[in-house]
Amino acid sequence: MAGLTWLPFLASSLLMMVSLFQSSQAAGVAVYWGQNGDEGSLADTCASGNYQFVNLAFLTTFGGGNTPVLNLAGHCNPGAGTCTSLSVEINDCQNQNIKVLLSLGGAVGNQSLTSADDARQVANYLWNNFLGGQSRSRPLGHAVLDGIDFSIESGTGLYWDNLARALSGFSSQKKVYLSAAPQCPFPDADLSTAISTGLFDYVWIQFYNNGQCQYSTNADNLIAAWNQWTSVHSNQIFLGVPAAPAAADGGYIPPDALISQVLPSIKSSHKYAGVMIWNKYFDSGYSSAIKEQVAASSPSIAPGSGSPSSPAGPHSGRKKSKNLRVKLYVVGAAIATSLAALALLFWCCKLRKRKGNHRNFMGSEMPELDDNEDDESLFFSFTSIEIATDHFSEENKLGQGGFGPVYKGKLVNGLEVAVKRLNRMSGHGIEQFKNEVKVISKLQHRNLVRLLGSCIEKEERLLVYEYLPNNSLDSVLFGMCQNSIYLHSFI
Ligand SMILES: *[C@@H]1O[C@H](CO)[C@@H](O)[C@H](O)[C@H]1NC(C)=O
Repeated sequence: MAGLTWLPFLASSLLMMVSLFQSSQAAGVAVYWGQNGDEGSLADTCASGNYQFVNLAFLTTFGGGNTPVLNLAGHCNPGAGTCTSLSVEINDCQNQNIKVLLSLGGAVGNQSLTSADDARQVANYLWNNFLGGQSRSRPLGHAVLDGIDFSIESGTGLYWDNLARALSGFSSQKKVYLSAAPQCPFPDADLSTAISTGLFDYVWIQFYNNGQCQYSTNADNLIAAWNQWTSVHSNQIFLGVPAAPAAADGGYIPPDALISQVLPSIKSSHKYAGVMIWNKYFDSGYSSAIKEQVAASSPSIAPGSGSPSSPAGPHSGRKKSKNLRVKLYVVGAAIATSLAALALLFWCCKLRKRKGNHRNFMGSEMPELDDNEDDESLFFSFTSIEIATDHFSEENKLGQGGFGPVYKGKLVNGLEVAVKRLNRMSGHGIEQFKNEVKVISKLQHRNLVRLLGSCIEKEERLLVYEYLPNNSLDSVLFGMCQNSIYLHSFI
C-alpha cells in the first residue's frame, strides 16, 4: 500500500522534469500581418528575423452559413485567386522556424457560430482549406498553415470552445496550433470559455484599447491584469502591445519602458512566453528594439515553462547556452525531486501518526495554500481538480446544488471524489472560506460525507468530498439531508 502512494508522486516528478526540459526554449515575438498592403511582403516579414509567429489577418467572415471571406487588404485578392502565391512565402517562413497561423477576426465581416454543429463545419472548412486537409479552392494555395488564431471581439461568445475542440481533433493527423487574442480585461467576454478548454497553445493578450488594464504612465494596471491572466489554462501567454502609438487607441509602451518597467515583472511568471505586436504595418523598429530582451531569460527566475510547441527561434547561436541550461535544470530537478520526496515521506508519517489509518488522498498534489497552521484541512491545486474532473466536463456533472454545480472526479491516485464548485457570486471571503473548511473537515460524523479538502485559486472556491456512489452523497451535497446541517452555510 505504502509503495503505491509513491506512484503519482513519481509521475508528477517526471512530468516536472519534462516541463523543465521544455522550459529552456526562448520566448518569442508574434506579429499580425495582412491588414495593410504597404506593410511589406510576408517573405520580408519573416526574413526580418524579428518574429517567431505570424498571424495572417484576417478571415473576416465565416460560420452561420455565410460564405467565408479572407481579407488580406491590398496584398492580394482572394476572390481572384491571387493569394495562392503566398504559399511559397508561407513555406519559407516555416522553413525559418516561424509558425504561420490564420487569424479569425477583424472589425469587418461576420464572425458568428450559430451552433455546435456550425462550429464543427467551420473547423472542417478551416482544416480542408488552410490546414492539413484538401480542397480544390484553397485561398492560400497548397501551403499548410500551422494553426488558427482566435481574435474574436464580438458576437455571443458561444461555440468558440466547440470550434477549438473540433480543430484540436485534427491534431491527430497533423498538429493544429491554437492561439487566442483576448482583450486584457479578465476574463475575456468572448473567448474565456474557449480558453478554459485548455486547448490553446498560445494566448496573446491585447494590452491596448482598454484603459483599465493597459500601460499608461506606469505599468501598474497592466501588471495587475497580467497577474490575473497567468491563471488561464494555457502555459504560454504573451504580452500583446501596439507597435506604435497610432496602432491602437491607447496602450503604447515605448521600447525602453517595456524593457525596464514591464518585462522584468511579467517574466517572473513561468507562463511568460513573449510579446505579440499589433501590427506589422506599424512595426518600424519596435520589434527589433525589444526582441533581445523579450527572449533573454530573466536572471533570477527560470524561463517560461511551455509545451514542446515553444518557439525555437530562428537564431541557432543560442544553442550552446541552451544545452548548458538544460543540464543545470536536470541536476536541479533531480535535487528538487529528492528533497520533495523526503518532505513527502516526512509529511506522510506525520499524517499517519495523527490520523491513524487516514489514507493518502492527496495524490501528487502537495498542499498549496495552507498557511503555516498545523491543521488537517487540505488544499488542492485548481489544476489537480481540473484534471480530476476533466475540466469540469458535462459528463462528470453530478448535479446542480443551490450554491453551484457538483462534479464527479478522479484524483491522480485513483480516489474518486465529488467536487463542489461554488458559484463565484457566493460572496465567501477567503478567510471565512478557509475557517469553515477547517470546521467541516473536523466534523467526522458517521453519516456525513467526508470533506477531503478545498481549493482556493483566484476566483475559484472548490470543496472536495469523498465520493459515495449512492444517494447519501446526493442528499448531502445538494442540501436535502438533515445530516448536512453543518454544511448548510456552504451547500
Ligand atoms: C451574421 O451572420 C448570422 C448568421 O448567418 C446572421 O444571423 C447575422 O444577421 C449576421 N450579422 C450581420 C451583421 O450581418
